[in-house]
Amino acid sequence: MLRLFVAIELPESIRQRLALLCGGVPGARWLSPETMHLTLRFIGEVQEAALGDIDDALCDIRAPGFEVALDGIGNFGNSGKPRAIWAGVARNPALQHLHGKIESALVRAGLPPEGRKFTPHVTLARVKSGRAGRVGEYVAAHNPFQAGPFKVAGFTLFSSFLSHSGAIHTPEAVYPLEGG
Ligand code: 2AM
Repeated sequence: MLRLFVAIELPESIRQRLALLCGGVPGARWLSPETMHLTLRFIGEVQEAALGDIDDALCDIRAPGFEVALDGIGNFGNSGKPRAIWAGVARNPALQHLHGKIESALVRAGLPPEGRKFTPHVTLARVKSGRAGRVGEYVAAHNPFQAGPFKVAGFTLFSSFLSHSGAIHTPEAVYPLEGG
């Protein structure tokens, strides 16, 4: 089985900005900046034989390149039980358009539809339950936050291998956008 997801890779300059945000919350497990990304679609576990159909579907997508800006720091989960800390993404119709195209291409390729609303973000840390204390303070202290904009010239299909020291992400294919 393969664990797959589709994401936008971040330029080095953005990852350097995000690296400066990593710290100051006891119980938070910060992602290493090299692995930070903007998830477009989590696919999950599929048979290796499905990889070809997924790749074909993503290859067929035609959408223009665009720019993305990061805007704001926030968290998922409620204030008593935060699950993750993220950098948000400024409102972006071109990103939503690309997300819609990826979603319909993957459903046409036979994957079940993603039931959840697309909330673009870059995860900075996962928070262990029971160690919620400082997340609210951290979020307040780090806003306002802005980074970019940066150019998105393509998107990437990643495989993810869960190891003891965290997830190892491997780019399987890159799909260029028009004008990128
Ligand atoms: P994230 O962007 O919020 O961190 C690779 O694991 C990526 O897929 C992660 O970046 C993660 O989201 C997302 N992901 C992992 N498990 C998921 C799940 N069960 N549902 C939706 N997205 C998931």
